[in-house]
Amino acid sequence: MKNKINRVALIGTGAVGCSYAYSMINQGVAEEMILIDINEKRAEGEAMDMQHGMAFATSPTRVTSGSYEDCGNVDVVVITAGVPQKPGETRLELIDKNAKVMKGIVSEIMKSGFNGIFLVATNPVDILTYVVWKESGLPKERVIGSGTTLDTARFRYMLGEYFGLDPRNIHAAIIGEHGDSEFPVWSQASIGIERLCKVLERRNNPEDKEQLDKIFENVRDAAYHIIDRKGATYYGIGMCLTRITKAIFHDENSILTVSCLMEGHYGESDLYISTPAIVNRGGVREVIEIELDSKERDALENSAKVMRDMISKVY
Ligand code: 2OP
Repeated sequence: MKNKINRVALIGTGAVGCSYAYSMINQGVAEEMILIDINEKRAEGEAMDMQHGMAFATSPTRVTSGSYEDCGNVDVVVITAGVPQKPGETRLELIDKNAKVMKGIVSEIMKSGFNGIFLVATNPVDILTYVVWKESGLPKERVIGSGTTLDTARFRYMLGEYFGLDPRNIHAAIIGEHGDSEFPVWSQASIGIERLCKVLERRNNPEDKEQLDKIFENVRDAAYHIIDRKGATYYGIGMCLTRITKAIFHDENSILTVSCLMEGHYGESDLYISTPAIVNRGGVREVIEIELDSKERDALENSAKVMRDMISKVY
């Protein structure tokens, strides 16, 4: 694909969308990016502002503002548009408003003849990724949610801080709902190439268990803590969306904890939830059903029930 022009359309030029766009430009991931928003003037202003820094980017990205009709010619459409959480509000409480918004957006995009990959970030992201899959009619592998990619990034960062290590050496995942019912897969975690359970045995530190449980709680509640302090989150999710887009455009076959359709995985079907999956140019190449211990299986079943209950509110 070395001569392939990688084109992405961004729906929603709010804080999350523009953090994504800015991250994409600085990492030189796409050749073309179209910014689309119901506030056309704002999308135009954001494009102009980003264009003016292009002389300093690692490689030029052609950034323009546009409309839904322009989606017919892009490879990936990233959707961040929607109402964000208010302080203390859960992601699930956004479902009524954002499901309506999402159905409208998908209907307009599909009129353009779009036949690429959807990457959804709007919350509640697992339910809304299911809505995009249902409404678009695209194959499940080409409808992906950011899911717990951000939670896993937070988890790896905080564990790295605790153990004094680069987060890239922490191999641990948060799976399930991107929300209050998410959970850590401690049983499969490793530090470098050593299983976490062996590291803890070797450390023999009586505080580790309590501290690690606290780390997970801080991961799960991170958005509330940030929203309480600055009103919204956007840099972390913006960089996660760039990471996923990069895995697609560079045909990486990278494993990321994205939200994907369950088809019997973990005994669940017809719902989107996050689990490690292999991501490449075609979208989700393979959903990975990892081995869970009994506590983790119960947590997965709980998370899946939350998702099913929410889906029944929309369909
Ligand atoms: C986050 O976790 C709000 O879902 C967003 O930062």
